[in-house]
Amino acid sequence: MFTLPPLPYDYAALEPFIDTETMRIHHTKHHAAYVQNLNDALKGRDELLDTDIFDLIGSLKKIPAELQTRVRNQGGGHLNHSLFWKLMAPKPAKAPSHSLMSLIKKNFRDFKTFQEEFSATAMGRFGSGWVWLVVHGRKLEVVDTVNQDSPLSLGLSPILALDVWEHAYYLRYQNRRAEYIDAWWNVVNWEEVENLYTQALKKKKTK
Ligand SMILES: [Fe+2]
Repeated sequence: MFTLPPLPYDYAALEPFIDTETMRIHHTKHHAAYVQNLNDALKGRDELLDTDIFDLIGSLKKIPAELQTRVRNQGGGHLNHSLFWKLMAPKPAKAPSHSLMSLIKKNFRDFKTFQEEFSATAMGRFGSGWVWLVVHGRKLEVVDTVNQDSPLSLGLSPILALDVWEHAYYLRYQNRRAEYIDAWWNVVNWEEVENLYTQALKKKKTK
């Protein structure tokens, strides 16, 4: 069975950038529904219910064909939101550590260029979806996905995630996605980005 992970901070902790009510509904209603729907979809399939969510979404093609769409949507929703909560923090470091910053500069020329590319991709994602910083081979890339699709299913390792579904920002920002994106940069948990990067490299070495 899959369970809803608790938020690593209070619902009000990301104010004023992400409001309390959005965080509460997003976590207790939207994320909780993905978990419930995933469990419902896999009812009676104990071997799948016991699989780690990263492994499940990372090997979608191994799942019985009749279950793939629901696992992709509901399991993706569970995984993506689990990552998203940890990739935000109240009062995080203002910038990546020296080593992560060097890596970003190596891949995007400079930090500003990286942020601009990420934000532009978030603005350009038509309809609902996600924007990601991923590890692809030894490179960092910005990619976007539709609905609840995960870069993991494409063989990429996500290390930063931004939810651009309207449910992530509509209460405070209404149609103003750009304002939400600008505000979100203030709560990016760079320590966790670096942690996920280190994990992604370790996984590649053990493959
Ligand atoms: Fe969401």
